[in-house]
Amino acid sequence: MVSLASISNTVSELESDGLGKIDNLDRQLHQRFQNEFLDHPSLTRLIVSFQANKTRPIYRWYKYKEAFSASLIEYLLQQYKTTQGKVLDPFAGSGTALFAARETGIDADGIELLPIGQQIINAKKVLDSEFTPEDFDRIKNWSKLQVWKQCEQKKHLPELRITKGAYAELTRNAIEQYLEACKLENNRVQAVLKFVLLCVLESISYTRKHGQYLRWDYRSGRGQSKKPFNKGEILEFDNAITNKIIEIIDDLLPSTQQIELFPIKNPQGQIHLYGGSCLEIMPRLANAAYDAIITSPPYCNRYDYTRTYAL
Ligand SMILES: C[S@@+](CC[C@H](N)C(=O)[O-])C[C@H]1O[C@@H](n2cnc3c(N)ncnc32)[C@H](O)[C@@H]1O
Repeated sequence: MVSLASISNTVSELESDGLGKIDNLDRQLHQRFQNEFLDHPSLTRLIVSFQANKTRPIYRWYKYKEAFSASLIEYLLQQYKTTQGKVLDPFAGSGTALFAARETGIDADGIELLPIGQQIINAKKVLDSEFTPEDFDRIKNWSKLQVWKQCEQKKHLPELRITKGAYAELTRNAIEQYLEACKLENNRVQAVLKFVLLCVLESISYTRKHGQYLRWDYRSGRGQSKKPFNKGEILEFDNAITNKIIEIIDDLLPSTQQIELFPIKNPQGQIHLYGGSCLEIMPRLANAAYDAIITSPPYCNRYDYTRTYAL
């Protein structure tokens, strides 16, 4: 009979062997590209992280903390004189590289594995190129009349063990009314309204993304460590949704004064998103199809996005 001790030895040998292999590959990769790495002192933390997007129209809507900034993409395209053609981001996340390239008239393909990233990119594409004036009127109406409040039915909000109790009862009810009321809209408006909800979920919940985990505010009543965590203000559902819709409309429909200041708009590139793993999709892409690859891959085994984006 096989003893438990021998099983656990085999598991740890396998683990150390597996990790050893990864270390080895990592070293080889580093050596191979050593001469290509460049340190740019001008690329500050503000630019290489999401921080610079926080005040930037369109990029500020969804706080994807792992994103880089649109300014970084503009800097790189300029630095490497990429003014036309097509770029690829195989770890597209919230699509920063795709939308920033598109703004300069360059086409962009992205690959993203997680549904949250795919949903952000698709909703932005809908707003960018498919939304009609009537659709804008519909979402304006949602912000003015707070349509969900008149909805008597509710659509059940599914939860996972790790998200149980993430919202106050009133907030959860409002989310369920909102989701039910969305059903009356056309597909474009629904996609945008669901995106609006995604954008505010963390701010109306008892949780906050914290490194690898969701951190729980003491008001949730979920098990607290010795030092209770206070995430500060938890936004009220109606205000959070209304303000997010207003922010989106303001960013996309600039006032007449702004239009007069910046009358000429560059011709925009096309964005194509592949949903799935780049490990499977990249080998199927045509050779030499891209003029630049700009990407920020996830750390190997370090960061579980499905946990931090579980809401
Ligand atoms: C550091 S983030 C990229 C953020 C992006 N630069 C932005 O500005 O939003 C890495 C992304 O890679 C995605 N990812 C992880 N493994 C992947 C895979 N095998 N194929 C495609 N995407 C993957 C993750 O879901 C995550 O969104």
